[in-house]
Amino acid sequence: MEKTCALIKPDLTSKNQTGKVISMIEEAGFNIAQLKKLTMTKELAESFYAVHADKPFFNDVVQFMTSGPIIAMVLEKESSIAAWRDLMGATNPEQAESGTIRALFGSNIQENGTHGSDSAENAEKEISLVFG
Ligand code: CMP
Repeated sequence: MEKTCALIKPDLTSKNQTGKVISMIEEAGFNIAQLKKLTMTKELAESFYAVHADKPFFNDVVQFMTSGPIIAMVLEKESSIAAWRDLMGATNPEQAESGTIRALFGSNIQENGTHGSDSAENAEKEISLVFG
């Protein structure tokens, strides 16, 4: 079964909205294979978002992701990478389809509630960074 790395970001943990997101994940038929709450160190956030190191938003996203606790999960389902990205909606909540997690709970392109791996290679890398 394909695995993906899902994060519930500090904007939603600070608003006590993690349960609603986890319910949507379970209702969509994902198996939550692993789950933990942690606060990312700067080093972990920089490694996790290394693919974006040359982007103008890199420092801001690292600061945001280390600003409070996150919920990290390994989700399993057939084609879980695409399925979780569909359930989250577009990166920018303003462009996310209605009913998706980012449309429902995201605030802006940075504080967009959740993260999902974009490829099998990155899923493996992200899972090993967060879960060891
Ligand atoms: P995520 O899917 O976790 O991947 C990279 C993150 O960087 C993204 O969600 C946002 O939280 C953040 N980000 C901030 N600005 C941008 C931007 N202009 N484009 C993409 N991602 C951004």
